[in-house]
Amino acid sequence: MRTQVVIVGSGPSGLLLGQLLAGIGVETVILERSSRDHVLGRVRAGVLEQGTVDLLGEAGAAARLHAEGLSHSGISLAFDGRLHRIDLAELTGGRHVTVYGQTEVTHDLMDRRDAAGLVTVYEASDVALYDFGGAAPFVTYDKDGITHRMDCDFIAGCDGYHGVSRGSVPERALKTFERQYPFGWLGVLAEVPPADRELVYANHERGFALCSMRSTHRSRYYVQCPEGDRVEAWSDDRFWDELRRRLPEQTAASVTTGPSFEKSIAPLRSFVAEPMRFGRLFLVGDAAHIVPPTGAKGLNLAASDVRYLFDGFRDFYQGKSEAGLDVYSAKALARVWKAVRFSWWMTNILHRFPDTGDFGQRIQEAELDYLVHSRAASTALAENYVGLPY
Ligand code: APR
Ligand code: PHB
Repeated sequence: MRTQVVIVGSGPSGLLLGQLLAGIGVETVILERSSRDHVLGRVRAGVLEQGTVDLLGEAGAAARLHAEGLSHSGISLAFDGRLHRIDLAELTGGRHVTVYGQTEVTHDLMDRRDAAGLVTVYEASDVALYDFGGAAPFVTYDKDGITHRMDCDFIAGCDGYHGVSRGSVPERALKTFERQYPFGWLGVLAEVPPADRELVYANHERGFALCSMRSTHRSRYYVQCPEGDRVEAWSDDRFWDELRRRLPEQTAASVTTGPSFEKSIAPLRSFVAEPMRFGRLFLVGDAAHIVPPTGAKGLNLAASDVRYLFDGFRDFYQGKSEAGLDVYSAKALARVWKAVRFSWWMTNILHRFPDTGDFGQRIQEAELDYLVHSRAASTALAENYVGLPY
C-alpha cells in the first residue's frame, strides 16, 4: 500500500496535521497504537492560544469549540492570602485564551476525519520506520496478526513522548535536553461549577494548587504532590481539604465539592530533542518536546509545530519549493524553546521545591511581588500566556 504522508499517532498533532493536509488534497494514513476510546479517555490540559484556535478553524474542526469554548481575558495568581489578577487582554492589546478541553479537541478532529472518510488504523502494533534517510521511506505495522507495509513520501512522527519515531533516529543524530521536577500534579475532574470565573494559580506554603475548568459546570483542579505519591492515597475528601487549604479564603469558600470522576498524578518534566527533522521523518508535538503543565503550553506547542510543518508540506506538494520543509526544525525549535523557558519559569515561581531554603524562598516571594506590581513584568507573563506569535 502507498500514501503520501504516514502519520504515526492520532493525538492532537497527528489528527490536526491530517485534517490540514486533507484540505489541500494530500493523502494521509494515521497509524495509532491504541484504540480510539483509549485515546479519548486521556485527560489533559484545556487552554488554547488564539493561534491554536485559528488552526483548528482552518482544519474545519472549530465549530463546537466556537460554540462551547470559554473565552478568558485574565488569570489570577494567588499568594499571601489573596488573588492578584493578571489582565491578559488589557496587557496584550485585547488578546485572550479559550478554555476547551484537549479531549474535546481530539474528539472534534476524529469526527472530521471520520466524516471525510480518511483512514486511521487503530490498534496498529509494532509500528516500525524504515529508510527515512533516503528518498523512499516506508512503515510496517501489525494489525490483527497480519504485517502490513505502507510506502510514502514522508513520515510525520506524532506519537508522543513514548512513541517509536524519536526512538528510530540513530542516537548520535539527536541531542536531548531534560529537566525533572521533584514533585507531581494530582488532578481531579468533577461535575461541579468552578470556584472562579477564571483560572487561579496558587502558590502556598503547602504547595501549588490550580483551579481550572472544562465548562461552567465541570471543574478541573490540581494540587502539587510529592514525587512518588500514589493516587490511592488521595480520597476525594483529602483532595478537597488540601485544595481549599492552599487557596485564599474567599476562593476556598467558593469551591463546590463533589465526587471526582477522574483522578490521576502526572510527573513534571521539561524535555527537548533536537533536531526535529531527519531526512523524510519529522517529529511533531510531544514526540519532540515535553513541557510541565504550568502555563498550559503542551497542546499549543503541538499546534505551532503542525502549523510550520503543514506550511512546508503545502509548498512542497504545490510544487513551489522544499524551503519550508528545510526550515521546519529550526523554526519550530525557536518557538519550542521560548515555551520551554516560560513553563519552566512558571513552574519555578509557583511551586514549593524541597531544597529551596530560606534564601530561595525570599527570592520567590520577591519575584511574585514584582510580577504583580510591575506592568512590564505582568506584560511579559501575559504575552507568553496568550501565546507568542508564530
Ligand atoms: N505507534 C503508533 N502510535 C503510537 C505509538 C506507536 N509506537 N506510540 C504512541 N502512539 C500514539 C499514542 O497512543 C497517542 O495516541 O501517539 C499518540 C500521541 O499523542 P499525544 O501523546 O497526545 O501527543 P501529541 O499529539 O503530540 O499531542 C501533544 O498532548 O500530551 C499532550 O501535553 C501534550 O497537550 C500536548 C499534546
Ligand atoms: C487544565 O485545565 O487542565 C489546565 C489549565 C491550565 C494549566 C494546566 C492545566 O496551566
